Amino acid sequence: MTIHYKTPEEIEGMREACRLASEVLDYITPHIRPGITTKRIDELAAQCLKAQGTVSAAIGYQPPGYPPFPGHLCTSVNHVVCHGIPNDKPLKKGDIVNVDLDLITKDGWCGDNSRMFLIGEVSIAAKRLVNLTYEAMWHGIEQVRPGARLGDVGHAIQKFAEGHGLSVVREYCGHGIGRSVHEEPQVLHYGKPGTLEELRPGMTFTIEPMLNLGRREVKEFGNDGWTIVTKDRSLSAQWEHTVLVTETGYDVLTVSAGSPAVPAFVKGYVDPRQPAAAAA
Ligand code: MF3
Ligand code: CO
Repeated sequence: MTIHYKTPEEIEGMREACRLASEVLDYITPHIRPGITTKRIDELAAQCLKAQGTVSAAIGYQPPGYPPFPGHLCTSVNHVVCHGIPNDKPLKKGDIVNVDLDLITKDGWCGDNSRMFLIGEVSIAAKRLVNLTYEAMWHGIEQVRPGARLGDVGHAIQKFAEGHGLSVVREYCGHGIGRSVHEEPQVLHYGKPGTLEELRPGMTFTIEPMLNLGRREVKEFGNDGWTIVTKDRSLSAQWEHTVLVTETGYDVLTVSAGSPAVPAFVKGYVDPRQPAAAAA
């Protein structure tokens, strides 16, 4: 098991990559409305990456047994759990969509984040799923500090999700990230407190729970080799941040102007976007 613990200089590289990854999502946000196609979202992101001087880590990505990923980002609509391929179908009112963006900077550092978008007015159930999934991610993030274990992160997410009647997808997980977009360790979104890898300063990894309204089982959709859907066709949501283990706790690296507000229950995080924090 090779975990790369980042030096202060390497952490600066990660900070930049993650900020830029978040800014791509900011850039596309005003465009994500009824009628836009996910292909168009992909094109807009490609323009933004070009202007940044970064490249997509998703396009051409080909783990063993997979075809090369064809988009600059993943767009996962409604019952698509993850790895949706941008296509020509317009988004319509009532849809929920996850946009997942991984990039690599000129210096070779990777940033990875995703957000959910509501298309027009959506059902109460869909909105609840999206909001609870965001809170579940933050319940996981809150566990991060030196000496905690990855099982604490997974457990916090699972307990919150299942306590609200949602199910946790098991087949896909968060991951270490650095000069490669997927490094060790795996970050499961379920688990037992006090188990698995101990967290140490300098670790950088994603927390990216996928929660379903119905059952947790997933399956491949069609034959594109990528798209994953819920087996029962229930709605699925996902949010993703890249986090850093600091000497005292954590920092969230994929924060930019357009990142949603941090939930009120989170006590240990000083939002760098709050004027009070900037003045302190
Ligand atoms: N961002 C997704 C993850 O965290 C995967 C992106 S790479 C892709 O694993 F090729 F699968 F799109
Ligand atoms: Co990821």
